[in-house]
Parts: sequence; structure tokens; C-alpha cells
Amino acid sequence: MCDLDDLWAGEIRPAVVEGVKVVLVHTDDGVVTAVQGQCPHQKFSLADAELSGDKLTCPMHLWEMNAVTGCGINPSHAELAIYPTKVIDGRVYVSVTGVVPISARS
Ligand code: FES
Repeated sequence: MCDLDDLWAGEIRPAVVEGVKVVLVHTDDGVVTAVQGQCPHQKFSLADAELSGDKLTCPMHLWEMNAVTGCGINPSHAELAIYPTKVIDGRVYVSVTGVVPISARS
């Protein structure tokens, strides 16, 4: 997927895994994960979302979600699909098999 050295703590990076758009996340606490690439609200790209701690904020209408758990913060019913992610020998690997992006009602 990418080298962990290319995804610094506090950064996100859009990527495509087996044709699926994801956003790689590396939190300030050192957690590396991958979330769906489109916002559950109106499918705006999360490539330019803002990461603050574990909180990912969509730039379109400012929905906030936890990038590690996938749980909605504001609104609480927002939810992100989380893709299994591993870091092995400094490389980030993401599996998209069986994980479907989530859409939420407004
Ligand atoms: S599209 Fe992301 S908050 Fe509306």
C-alpha cells in the first residue's frame, strides 16, 4: 500500500485498494487504519478531510467521525466503514474484502 514513513502521525492519505477508494489514517497516537474514501453523508471525498486526534471531519458539511472506531461523533448516527489494516516491516497493508462503505441518512 505505502510505506509508513510516507504517512506521518497526524496525517491522512487517499488511496485506492483493489479499485476501492480508502483514506489511510495515522493518528497522533500512532494508530494506523483505513476508512472509506467517501463521506457517509453525501459521498463527498474524504481525501481532504481534517484529522484531529482520532476525529475525522468531512470538509463538505463538517460531519465528524472517529477514524479508529468508525463511530459517528456529530451527528452520532454517522458511521464509517473501517478496513482491516496492518503494518508489517514498515509497510501499510489494507484489506477491502468484505467491507462495504456505509451511507447514512441526513
Ligand atoms: S458530504 Fe460529508 S458531511 Fe456532507
